[in-house]
Amino acid sequence: MGLPLEGIKVLDFTGVQAGPACCQMLAWFGADVLKVERPGVGDVTRSQLRDIPDLDALYFTMLNSNKRSLTLNTKTSEGKAILEKLICDADVMVENFAPGAMDRMGFTWERIHELNPRLIFGSIKGFGEGSPYADLKVYENVAQCTGGAASTTGFWDGPPTVSGAALGDSNTGMHLLIGILAALIGREKTGKGQKVSMSMQDAVLNLCRVKLRDQERLDHVGYLEEYPQYPNGKFDEAVPRGGNAGGGGQPGWVLKCKGWQNDPNAYIYFTIQEQNWKRTCEAIGKPQWASDPAYATARARQSRLFGIFAEIEKWLADKTKYEAVDILRKSEVPCGPVLSMKEIENDPYLRACGSIVEVDEEKRGKYLTVGCPMKFSDFKPHITGAPLLGEHTDDVLSSLGYSKDQIAKLHSNKVV
Ligand code: COA
Repeated sequence: MGLPLEGIKVLDFTGVQAGPACCQMLAWFGADVLKVERPGVGDVTRSQLRDIPDLDALYFTMLNSNKRSLTLNTKTSEGKAILEKLICDADVMVENFAPGAMDRMGFTWERIHELNPRLIFGSIKGFGEGSPYADLKVYENVAQCTGGAASTTGFWDGPPTVSGAALGDSNTGMHLLIGILAALIGREKTGKGQKVSMSMQDAVLNLCRVKLRDQERLDHVGYLEEYPQYPNGKFDEAVPRGGNAGGGGQPGWVLKCKGWQNDPNAYIYFTIQEQNWKRTCEAIGKPQWASDPAYATARARQSRLFGIFAEIEKWLADKTKYEAVDILRKSEVPCGPVLSMKEIENDPYLRACGSIVEVDEEKRGKYLTVGCPMKFSDFKPHITGAPLLGEHTDDVLSSLGYSKDQIAKLHSNKVV
């Protein structure tokens, strides 16, 4: 089959990470994604954290593959007229400007809907409409802090901690993508477009749902038995930071393996699965624990967990993280090595399945980027390079009916 979104036209009026990530995936699924950028400047990520002078940064290329680029000053009357034509012709438009920027430009949702009632308009902001923080500009870590992730991440004796995963940015983009796809299916039935609003706070909170579960349990009973603070530590009124504790009913921890003194990632994540306790004991050389009343049940182990993990670390002391996992997998212990980004970069499986792909661009040469994480039985997205700033401006303008002379004038007036 062809790609599922072939024929869908997307106006990508986004920058930084959240909006671009959403539109990039629409492009991977076959949509024609046109990125609209400020003339001479473009998306700020083109020039942020550059590794090669004067070339678009990896920050940009990694979030804007498979797109086309049009430069357009949407604050000029000619620029607005061009944007209006593009809106009339598009199926989807996505933006993630600072609060109020679209309205100031003259493109309110009402105006966009009037121009093209079938258009689906995706909009990302830090906070939802009506939030007391709705006026704030927001980047990744603000969202992690206000969505519940930071207060529940890290160790109990340290400050709130943000995750390395882009829970505020790319995650919000992925949430918006789901909303847009639902709205596209809805349009099949109603013929109508709609606005899909996505706040970064909501996207983070949606991933922190188990922490809300824990807050309610804490409100009811005053303790959380799967947290390291139980039974000897003290609980306050809010869900504490639980270090590396398993988030569900299976206790777990990050454990040191051979070489941890010199390698910051010589660790595994080890989970004690209740139904697999006997085999776990055999695997770690403590078969007696399976029948010893002090260790045989989850409740009995609760107050001994860190002693148990310390004993397992002794067993791990002469095993690399890979050797340990190879032994433990035979006993079905839920576990895995802590992988560094260096290891992930060179992982043959992740390359083979297309989760990490190599792109060859004329100027940059070969570079790695993330590929499509979903694997479909009928198609595999082909990841291409990201467009140069304004690479497709003239093509787009001529497809809108502008003559060569008119296009030259738009260039000289810095409209495009
Ligand atoms: N032509 C003319 N003007 C343009 C333009 C174009 N093609 N594209 C953007 N602009 C203008 C905007 O209209 C805005 O003008 P205004 O302030 O006069 O209204 C201006 O450029 C700056 O817009 P923006 O990029 O949104 O502001 P910023 O760089 O100060 O803030 C963010 C960046 C990310 C903090 C902000 O956009 C934001 O909070 N976005 C919502 C949440 C979000 O997505 N965060 C980032 C997640 S990765």
